[in-house]
Amino acid sequence: MAAAGAKETTVDLVLEVNNIEVVYNKVVQVLRGLSLAVPRGRIVALLGSNGAGKSTTLKAISGLLPLEDGELQAGEIRLHGQDTARLAPQQLVHRGLGHVMEGRRVFEDLTVEENLVAATYALAGRAAAPRDFDAVYGYFPRLHERRKGLAGYLSGGEQQMLAIGRALVGEPTLMLLDEPSLGLAPQLVEEIFTIIARINAERGVSMLLVEQNASIALAVAHSGYIMENGKIVIDGSAERLAADPDVREFYLGLGGGDQARSFRGLKHYKRRKRWLS
Ligand SMILES: Nc1ncnc2c1ncn2[C@@H]1O[C@H](COP(=O)(O)OP(=O)(O)OP(=O)(O)O)[C@@H](O)[C@H]1O
Ligand SMILES: [Mg+2]
Repeated sequence: MAAAGAKETTVDLVLEVNNIEVVYNKVVQVLRGLSLAVPRGRIVALLGSNGAGKSTTLKAISGLLPLEDGELQAGEIRLHGQDTARLAPQQLVHRGLGHVMEGRRVFEDLTVEENLVAATYALAGRAAAPRDFDAVYGYFPRLHERRKGLAGYLSGGEQQMLAIGRALVGEPTLMLLDEPSLGLAPQLVEEIFTIIARINAERGVSMLLVEQNASIALAVAHSGYIMENGKIVIDGSAERLAADPDVREFYLGLGGGDQARSFRGLKHYKRRKRWLS
């Protein structure tokens, strides 16, 4: 069945990562034959414990490894069917990739709006570089209210919104999100994930979502992968992973019931959107 459907499947995959191996500083092997795929229009969660190699996977996809003395030593990376394994970050932005890095990297000494303007510099030469930021402010009205304030004075949640907003400026077709929930209060986590789900549903942006908060990631994702020690160990639909006894024990915790309940709204939103599309 896989062979017969292979051609069709390739067309529908925004991102294909096949058997990649990544080594830092020429000696430390971090990814050991990792493979994953993101179908068009889907949110795919990439889960795993500290040091599993989640951020390294995203950096390999967005061309950031050379900046950290990391090297892609084997394997393939395809974005929209084209080999992008050796492209520079800026070339990847032009091809529709947006990477929201771990730890909300914003320019603290620039205002909110200047941060968004700075994000357009990477788009120089692209015909559709936006002149206003209505789409970003539409999703994050709080950024509009604070647009003249320094990014360094924003709360953690607002900085995360700005980091997502900066990626949105590039009108990405694929967004890589690295732990958007990190260090945020539960209510804010839910707010940010609701917006992530909206960006996916309303703009059709495919997403690879790295999270340690497996509950919320599986609440918004369509499918997911679990990685350990540089490779994928389990994959499946979000529903299947959320019901998997190993996933429940190791990633959701035995007390996961309460958390799952509090994200019912998000699940509802996701289902509703599925019916509409
Ligand atoms: N620039 C680097 N140079 C050397 N080793 C690195 C570098 N970046 C990451 N590593 C190592 O690679 C391994 C995977 O790191 P990575 O940041 O990809 O993990 P992660 O799954 O994102 O973890 P976390 O959940 O803590 O963010 C770790 O052992 C880490 O120490
Ligand atoms: Mg990480």
